[in-house]
Amino acid sequence: MNNVPIITIDGLASSGKTTISKLLSNHLGFYILDSGVLYRAFAYIKIIENIDAYTVDAIARIISNLRMAPNKDLGFSVIYNSSDITKNLYNEEIGLEASNISKNEDIRNVLLSIQHACAQAPGLIANGRDMGTKVFPEAALKIYFTASIDVRAKRRYEEMIKSGSNPNLLNIRKSLEERDEKDINREVSPLKAAKDAIIIDSSKLNIDTILDKILGLYKISRV
Ligand code: DC
Repeated sequence: MNNVPIITIDGLASSGKTTISKLLSNHLGFYILDSGVLYRAFAYIKIIENIDAYTVDAIARIISNLRMAPNKDLGFSVIYNSSDITKNLYNEEIGLEASNISKNEDIRNVLLSIQHACAQAPGLIANGRDMGTKVFPEAALKIYFTASIDVRAKRRYEEMIKSGSNPNLLNIRKSLEERDEKDINREVSPLKAAKDAIIIDSSKLNIDTILDKILGLYKISRV
């Protein structure tokens, strides 16, 4: 991708991909593509526009009004019809609907070029489910994150408490399991580690150790 260095981080929901992406971005000054927001955007638009099914025409109309705009945090905001919809995308209902939508091959294909356009100098940290396998197969470094369901549910629970909601741990666990099942078993671009990915279990290591490990691996990948 025009020689811009790319680090891909794929993995299960709430496995720590976003946290590590931000830390890496702080260290390297790279942009962050949180690719889940694109599937979340399609889910959100389906709900607000009352779309029954994503026909080829509906997908084409939406994609022509959808773009990613770099923001001051080195992330990308999701712009739809000239409005920033990013803050509407992060809730569990949208996450589950995004997981349903993500098996649509036409949607996955039209999103490829938006994702490729995020590869901008000085570099990109791309996180999601198929960054290393499908979207950026030539990435300099590929990481695959895993963590136990209990650790992930607790993480999501604490995030939600922090953001002022009143979550139920068992419901979160169920929803994550449902999403894992869909993401791993779908036919198109399922969640899986690329053959050349380094697997990191984030329930076993602390975040600073993980950061050092990835920075070290990245350094080696550049020589
Ligand atoms: O990472 P996330 O929780 O924001 O992702 C929401 C859903 O989007 C996820 O359950 C599956 C889908 N997704 C995908 O299929 N491919 C990606 N690269 C990123 C997300």
